[in-house]
Amino acid sequence: MSFPKSSESIYSISPYIGGDVTPPGFVRRVVLASNENPYGPSPAVKRAISEYIDRLHCYPSGAANSLREAIGKAHDVDPAWVVTGNGSEDILHLLARAYAGHGDEILIPQHGFGVYKIATLVVGATPVYIPRVDFKLSVDAILERVTERTKIFYLDHPGNPIAHYLTNAEIEDLLERMPSHVLVVFDSAYAEYMETDDYHPGTKWVQRYPNVVMARSFSKAYGMANLRLGWLYAHPEIVDPIHRIRPPFNTTGLSQAAGIAALEDQAWIKHCVGLNKENLSWFENAMNSLGIKILPYTSNFVMAHFENTQEVYHYLGKKGLIVRPMGAYALPEYLRITIGTAEQMQELVATLSLCPHL
Ligand SMILES: Cc1ncc(COP(=O)(O)O)c(C=O)c1O
Repeated sequence: MSFPKSSESIYSISPYIGGDVTPPGFVRRVVLASNENPYGPSPAVKRAISEYIDRLHCYPSGAANSLREAIGKAHDVDPAWVVTGNGSEDILHLLARAYAGHGDEILIPQHGFGVYKIATLVVGATPVYIPRVDFKLSVDAILERVTERTKIFYLDHPGNPIAHYLTNAEIEDLLERMPSHVLVVFDSAYAEYMETDDYHPGTKWVQRYPNVVMARSFSKAYGMANLRLGWLYAHPEIVDPIHRIRPPFNTTGLSQAAGIAALEDQAWIKHCVGLNKENLSWFENAMNSLGIKILPYTSNFVMAHFENTQEVYHYLGKKGLIVRPMGAYALPEYLRITIGTAEQMQELVATLSLCPHL
C-alpha cells in the first residue's frame, strides 16, 4: 500500500516525550515529572469553572477579550499587544509559523526546552544550537551564531531543564547588539518563581525593542497546566500575523474564565511560590546529605546527577515516585525533579535514602 507522505523535516521530528510517558510497571502516585504546581490553582479558579459550566455549548470569545483585559490589568500592559494561546507552547509554534520557514534558521539554547526544536522543524527551518559553558549561556555565544538567515531566537528565561537565565545587564547587552531582523522570544514560563533583582520577565524589553516578544504560561505557578493557557506580549505589528494564522478559537471559554479568576488572586501565587521556596531549600539540604549533586536551580525543579540514572529512575517509578529522565535533552546522567509538597519531597528523600543504586 502506498500512503501520502508528509515532508522530510516532519519525519525528522522525534515526538515530544512528556511526564505522562512512563515504562510499564510504574505506579503514578506522586508525579514530580512535569514542573506542575502541586497545590493546584487558586480556589477562585475552581469556582469560576463551576460557574461557567452552563455555557459549554457556546463558542468562546475567539480573541479572549476579557482575559486579555485581565492580563493587561494584572501586568500593566496594553491588551492590544496580547495574544492568548493553547498553552505557551501554542504561542511558540505560532511564532515559528508566522516568522520562519524553509531555509531559515532558529537559534535554540543547548539543552533548551524540547518544543523549540519541534516548532522549528515543523516549519522546515533549521535549528542552530547555542552551546553553554558550565550550563550557562553567554551573549557572545548567542550573537556568534546569528546569520542573515536567523529568524527567531528562543530564549528560555529562565530555562528548563537548565535553570540558567541571562541577567538584566546581559539582556541589555544582547538586545543592543542583536540585529533587528531576529525575533527574540523570551520564554518566561517560570517567571512567577523568579524573585531576584537581576531578572526581568521581558515586558520592559518588549516595550523598548520592536523585535522582542514575551511568552507566558498559566501552567506553572498558576497551577492550570490541564487547562492549556498561555499568552504572548508583543508590538501590534508583530502580533498581526499571529492573529491571521492562529486557530480562531485556540483557547476555551472555560480556560479564559479560569485565567481571569487566577489573575485576580495574586495572593495564591505568592503563597504557592513561598511554599515552593521552602520545600526547595529543604530538598536541597536533604540531597546534600545524601551526597546527590544538583545543578543550580531557579524555579520549581532541580536537576539531580546520578551515576546509575536509569536504575534510580526505575527504582523510584516502581515505588510510585515519577521523576523525569533527561535523555531526550542529551543529559542522560540527570533526573529532573519537580518540587512537590513537603510530604512528597520527604517521601522522595526517604525512598532515595534506601536506594541500592546510589
Ligand atoms: C520553558 C518552558 N516553556 C514553555 C512551556 C510550555 O508550557 P505550557 O504550554 O503548558 O504553557 C514549558 C512547559 O514545560 C516550559 O518548561
